[in-house]
Amino acid sequence: MRYVIEHLEPRLFKWCLLEYRHIVSIVGKENALFTNLASKELPSTKDRVKDLDLKHVCVLDPYARKTLSASDKFENLIFGGILGDAPMQGRTTRELTMPLAAESRNLGKYQFSTDTAVYVAKHLMGGGKLSELSFQDTITIEISDSESVELPFRYVMIGGIPLLPPCLVEYLKSRKGF
Ligand SMILES: C[S@@+](CC[C@H](N)C(=O)[O-])C[C@H]1O[C@@H](n2cnc3c(N)ncnc32)[C@H](O)[C@@H]1O
Repeated sequence: MRYVIEHLEPRLFKWCLLEYRHIVSIVGKENALFTNLASKELPSTKDRVKDLDLKHVCVLDPYARKTLSASDKFENLIFGGILGDAPMQGRTTRELTMPLAAESRNLGKYQFSTDTAVYVAKHLMGGGKLSELSFQDTITIEISDSESVELPFRYVMIGGIPLLPPCLVEYLKSRKGF
């Protein structure tokens, strides 16, 4: 299974990069491909998915009618390299599912970050069930004694701790302007 992430933000924000590194650590470099992106560090191509001859493609789209399951026989799972927005604006449908005229599947109706979506999809493709995972909708990250940041997305909880890209908390703490 190849996990293809079409980068759709105007540039490679640090937050995107941390998610993308996390994706590589989840699925392995040989199973990840970042499209619409030129990077020396990540397995990537400047080409868009539409320009690549990928077979048996499925877009992971929160608005898809069907939920991904291990019985699905896809070779390439396509994810939006899109930072979360609340409420969702349907960018995955508009920028991937519709132009590619591709099959699509959801991972439930709540919005995950891209790296969490990849983690959940890998779990399902390995025969796991959504009900086996523990989730939390909206997490709060303390960035100083007096400030915290709310991330209004669905996160996988492992041992009571949200699964986050390494260094994301440090990055949020270093950011100005909350
Ligand atoms: C942070 S989400 C961005 C969603 C975007 N705000 C939208 O309105 O479509 C990043 C990517 O993770 C995947 N994703 C997140 N939640 C999902 C879900 N519930 N079902 C399927 N894919 C999901 C999609 O590929 C999506 O493009």
